[in-house]
Amino acid sequence: MGTFSTALATASDCRECARLLVYQLGEHGVEASTERLARVLEDVAADIARGFLMLARDGGRIVGVAYVATILSAEHCGPVAWLEELYVTPDYRHRGIGTALVTAVLEKAQKAGIVAVDLEIDLDHNRVISLYERLGFRRLERSRWVREFTK
Ligand SMILES: CC(C)(COP(=O)(O)OP(=O)(O)OC[C@H]1O[C@@H](n2cnc3c(N)ncnc32)[C@H](O)[C@@H]1OP(=O)(O)O)[C@@H](O)C(=O)NCCC(=O)NCCS
Repeated sequence: MGTFSTALATASDCRECARLLVYQLGEHGVEASTERLARVLEDVAADIARGFLMLARDGGRIVGVAYVATILSAEHCGPVAWLEELYVTPDYRHRGIGTALVTAVLEKAQKAGIVAVDLEIDLDHNRVISLYERLGFRRLERSRWVREFTK
């Protein structure tokens, strides 16, 4: 393992990112299609107004990914970045890559005029809290709800 770097994803990275994120979603019990997710990632990589995808690479290999979707928020009176997914491949963890990805997301978001970054943590996923706290995130006392439509 060499040194890693972070950069925005381009269209050609999206399929591999989708493969990593499908694996990550599977760990959380969410079934997702690599094909459909790759198309979503391509849409985002092509239009910064929709969000962006930050990658960590070791040489040519993608070893981490952060997926960010942007919404126009009433609460924050401006564009807000939803950091929906953060994933580092297991053999590259505990080397600062997750921290570097979130730091790069925060820098990119600020440069793009985004006014806040939101994320969610599963209630039983305490292990990750210290990472976000170190980077200035604070917990909101709310619960997240969803109403899905039949596909
Ligand atoms: C969370 C994750 C991206 C961290 O990546 P990383 O490159 O190991 O992170 P860093 O080396 O920069 O920082 C280590 C920090 O990650 C967190 N962490 C450590 N083990 C973890 C684990 N098994 N799961 C989640 N977070 C973990 C801790 O905050 C740790 O800091 P600490 O050792 O001081 O407590 C990585 O563990 C991962 O992909 N986990 C599975 C997916 C996930 O949990 N995503 C976040 C959903 S909110």
